[in-house]
Amino acid sequence: MVKAVVAGASGGIGQPLSLLLKLCPLVDELALYDVVNTPGVATDISHISSTAKVTGYLPKDDGGKLAFKDADIIVIPAGIPRKPGMTRDDLFKINAGIVKSLIEIAADVAPNAFILVISNPVNSTVPIAAEVLKAKGVFNAQKLFGVTTLDVVRAETFVAEIGGKKTGSELTVPVIGGHSGETIVPIFSKISPSVTIPDDKYDALVNRVQFGGDEVVKAKDGAGSATLSMAFAGFRFAEKVLKAAKGEKGLVEPSFVYLPGVPGGEEIAKATGLDFFSVPVELGPNGVEKVTNPLTGITEKEKSLVDIAIEGLKGNIEKGVSFAHNPP
Ligand code: NAD
Ligand code: LMR
Repeated sequence: MVKAVVAGASGGIGQPLSLLLKLCPLVDELALYDVVNTPGVATDISHISSTAKVTGYLPKDDGGKLAFKDADIIVIPAGIPRKPGMTRDDLFKINAGIVKSLIEIAADVAPNAFILVISNPVNSTVPIAAEVLKAKGVFNAQKLFGVTTLDVVRAETFVAEIGGKKTGSELTVPVIGGHSGETIVPIFSKISPSVTIPDDKYDALVNRVQFGGDEVVKAKDGAGSATLSMAFAGFRFAEKVLKAAKGEKGLVEPSFVYLPGVPGGEEIAKATGLDFFSVPVELGPNGVEKVTNPLTGITEKEKSLVDIAIEGLKGNIEKGVSFAHNPP
C-alpha cells in the first residue's frame, strides 16, 4: 500500500498535483494537507473513480501528524509564490519557516518517506529540510529531493521548439545546478538524441531556461507563478520515484540532492565545493541509487555557466543551513 501526501494541497500547484496523484494507479492512499480548504479539495477529488482513497486535513486536531503518518512519499508545494519584481530568494522569509515546520512533522511521523520539496527558494529550502532531518536523527539523503524537474521540462520544450523535433518528450536535456536564475545550468552538449544549438541562438536559449519562471510570473501579472506546468513536472518526478521504489530500472531525472550522502556524490561535492547540487539521479528502491557526474565532458561555455551557478548556490545553501540552526 502506497501512501502519498501533498502538503500545500489547496494551492495553485497543490490542486492539480493532487488530481494527478489521485489518477495514478501507484497510489493507494492520498492525504491532502493545507492550512485552508482541504476538506473541500479532498471531497471534490474523492469523487473521482480511481483507486486511491483520499483524505483531507487542516492543522487543527493534529491534522498535520494524521496526514503525514506513515507516508511513503510527501510532496511539498506549500508556501507563497512570487509576484512580478520578486526573486525566489524574496520568498525565503515566509517559506523557510513553513518548510521547516512541515519537515519536523515528517521527521516525527514518517521518517522513512521520500520527501520532494517544491517550495521556493529550493536552493535554500532543501538545505533547511536536510538540517531539520539531521537534527531529528532521521536524515536519509537518498530520500530527500529538491524538485528541479520544471527546469528540465522547460529545456525539453524550448529545445524542441528551435531544434525542429516534434515534441520535447522525445528529448533528454540535462539541467543541473540549482533552481533560480543563473544557478540553473542547461547542458545542451549532452542532449539525447543530440541536437545542435546554433551559435546565434545559444545565449538566448540558456537565458530562457534560466528565467522561464520569470516569463510565467510576468504573464500571470500578480496572480502567482507556474502552477500547471509545475504540477505536471512534480508529478513526473513523483511517479518516477514511485516506479523506482517498485523496482523499475533505468529511471533518471535531475534533482537537487545532498551530495555527501548519495552514492557518487562525493566526487561532485569535491569538484563544486558544494554539498547540494542538482545532478542526474538514477532512482532505485531506496531513492537515489546513484548520481552521475554531470561536469565531465562539458563545453567551456557550460563550465563558465557552472562557475557562476556555484557562486550563487554557496550563499543560498549557507542561508538555509544557518536558518535551520538559528531560526529567528
Ligand atoms: P499557492 O499560494 O497557490 O499555494 C500554496 C499553498 O500552500 C496554499 O494553499 C497555502 O494555504 C499553503 N500553505 C501555506 N502555509 C502552509 C503550511 N504551513 N502548511 C501547509 N500548507 C501551507 O502557491 P503555488 O503557486 O502553489 O506555489 C507554491 C510554492 O511552490 C511557491 O513557493 C512557489 O515559488 C513554488 N514553486 C516551485 C517550483 C519549482 O520548480 N520547484 C515551481 C513553481 C512554484
Ligand atoms: C518556476 O520556476 O516557475 C518556479 O520556481 C516559480 C517561480 O518563482 O518562478
